[in-house]
Amino acid sequence: MAVERTLSIIKPDATKRNLTGKINAKFEDAGLRIVAQKRIQLTPAQAGVFYEVHKERPFYGELCDFMASGPVVVQVLQGEGAIAKNREVMGATNPADAAPGTVRADFAESVGENSVHGSDAAETAAKEIAYFFSGLELVG
Ligand code: CMP
Repeated sequence: MAVERTLSIIKPDATKRNLTGKINAKFEDAGLRIVAQKRIQLTPAQAGVFYEVHKERPFYGELCDFMASGPVVVQVLQGEGAIAKNREVMGATNPADAAPGTVRADFAESVGENSVHGSDAAETAAKEIAYFFSGLELVG
């Protein structure tokens, strides 16, 4: 399997509860390497550009406001099959459906406040990584 990079975001519900280290431990225990990471405060407009693909959804405004409600940790995870592996570690979008031991089963509060985001495909991962990081910031 190819070595891939994927974008991960630890969302405001998780940073507020001081869960960054516990979530990072799940990524690292699964063999994912954090090759870039920074804690930032998004504006609703910046969150809106990131989530543009969802702009017709009824929850778009709520999602953008939530993502700007506190700090987020944006990070690039690297490893064999990193995109799918990260989605496994995160668990289903709705924590009620997430498998035991996943980030969302253990930490998410609701489908909206679900602790983490991860890219869903190679093309999205490249675009999402470029939104937050320059090539010089990725240190594998
Ligand atoms: P994420 O993986 O970041 O991608 C899109 C986000 O939209 C998703 O996680 C959820 O946080 C959010 N989302 C999806 N469905 C709903 C919903 N029904 N209500 C509120 N937010 C949602």
